[in-house]
This record gives sequence, C-alpha cells and structure tokens, in this order.
Amino acid sequence: MRIATLEQLLDTLDRLFDDGSDWTRREGADHWARIFRQPDHPLNADLPDANLVEWQRRGLLPAGGGRTALDLGCGLGRNTRWLAAQGYQATGVDLSSYAVQEARRRSALPGASYIGGDVLREPLAGGPFDLIYDSGCFHHLPPHRRLSYLSVVRAELKPGGLFGICTFAPGRMGTQTDDLTILKRGQLEGGMAYSLDDLQGVFSELTYLAGGPLQAPEREVEPVFAMDFLHAALFRRPV
Ligand SMILES: C[S@@+](CC[C@H](N)C(=O)[O-])C[C@H]1O[C@@H](n2cnc3c(N)ncnc32)[C@H](O)[C@@H]1O
Repeated sequence: MRIATLEQLLDTLDRLFDDGSDWTRREGADHWARIFRQPDHPLNADLPDANLVEWQRRGLLPAGGGRTALDLGCGLGRNTRWLAAQGYQATGVDLSSYAVQEARRRSALPGASYIGGDVLREPLAGGPFDLIYDSGCFHHLPPHRRLSYLSVVRAELKPGGLFGICTFAPGRMGTQTDDLTILKRGQLEGGMAYSLDDLQGVFSELTYLAGGPLQAPEREVEPVFAMDFLHAALFRRPV
C-alpha cells in the first residue's frame, strides 16, 4: 500500500504505537477494562467533574432542557449520568465494551444512553450535539490522531454548541515531550499534558470561554470529582 489519503496516513502512523502504549484504539481497550475493574479507582466513583458543576453554577453551562450531549470516552458514565440528571439527552460513547456494559448497568436515568465505538475511526449516530464533553480521552491520543478528533468535533458539535474538555495539566501529570519525539519514539508515556494555551491552539476554531483546575468548591454544594493533576476548558462553536 502506498499512502494516498489522509486516513491511510493516519492508519500508518498508528502503527508507530504498536508497542501497546496507545490506549485510544481497539487494541488498547483492555487497559481501560483493567482500570475500571478496580473498585477503589477514582474513575469508579459516581461523581461528576468539578468543572461541570462549576460551569453550571456560573451560568456557562445551561440546564439540559432536552438539549443533547455527547460524553466522548465516557468510561463508566459518571459525567453522562450527571448531564442526564441536569436534563440533557446524554449519550456516552466508549471504546471499552466493559465500560459501556458497566455504564448501562449503573444507569437508571431515562436521559442517559451508552454506545460502544471508536469515535476516531467509526461513524457516530445521534449527532450533531449541543454539547460535547470529554474527560480524559483526548490527552491519551497520539499526536496525529488530534486531526481525527478535530474532525469529530467539527462534525458532531452544532453551531453555537459547547465543547468542554478535561486534560492532564503540565507539570502535574502527562508528558511534555514534543510531538516529533513522541512519534519517533513510538511511545505515549501514559498520556500528554496540555496547557490551557495548548488547548486554545488545538481548538482554535472554537471560542474559549473558561478554564482552570479541577477543584472542589470551598463550600461543597454536591460531591464532585476533583484531582489536582487535571484542568478543564470550555469553548463555544461560533454560529
Ligand atoms: C481516562 S478514561 C476516562 C473515562 C471517563 N471519561 C471518566 O472520566 O470517568 C478515558 C476513556 O476514553 C475511552 N476512549 C479512548 N479512546 C477512545 C476512542 N477512540 N473512542 C471512544 N472512547 C475512547 C477509554 O475507553 C476510556 O474509557
């Protein structure tokens, strides 16, 4: 095969990470099942990200009112369920069939549903959405797959829709090795750190609204998921 399309180029670059360090394709899904099977793992707690609750409190995230939301890489569905509880028709999608099965088992909310799939490589049903939210998927992508991810955001986010993302914060967690070195080494080092400036650069087609660390509020209104090595940013797609 000689590369003649962007998809062929991306598929070929995927092969650089055949060492197993890429947990964002089918071959890497078992990694997530191992994590989610640990009852004490923080991702197993049924709590929403602190930033979602904070954005809602600040009026940046509207009540669902039947709006649609995609929780991209939903894992066990903790944020999908919270969004459904706020009135969103929330769809969680995940690569790991264990995660999707377990998310379905935990959910009793009519507004939450879960689908199995690889959002980077397979078509997604149900879009476009009013809100796309990603907690912890994007920072695991190999550099070249950011292009696939951007295509998903372009295709699946409505004009005027919101995009929220939570990633490793530089100096706290995730590698700061540059893209070329990562591609040459073929090693993802457990995920990449993104500064808020990096995120604004990658998602430059969107308007930046807010960003900051995942912190529980001083006076906790409801229990939330907060980790000092994560931060989150909120964007809006121009109309
Ligand atoms: C760090 S976990 C976060 C899970 C969840 N968002 C949470 O915060 O509890 C990353 C998730 O992204 C999912 N994921 C990775 N690559 C994906 C892909 N290509 N398509 C769909 N889901 C993917 C993994 O299966 C995993 O559940």
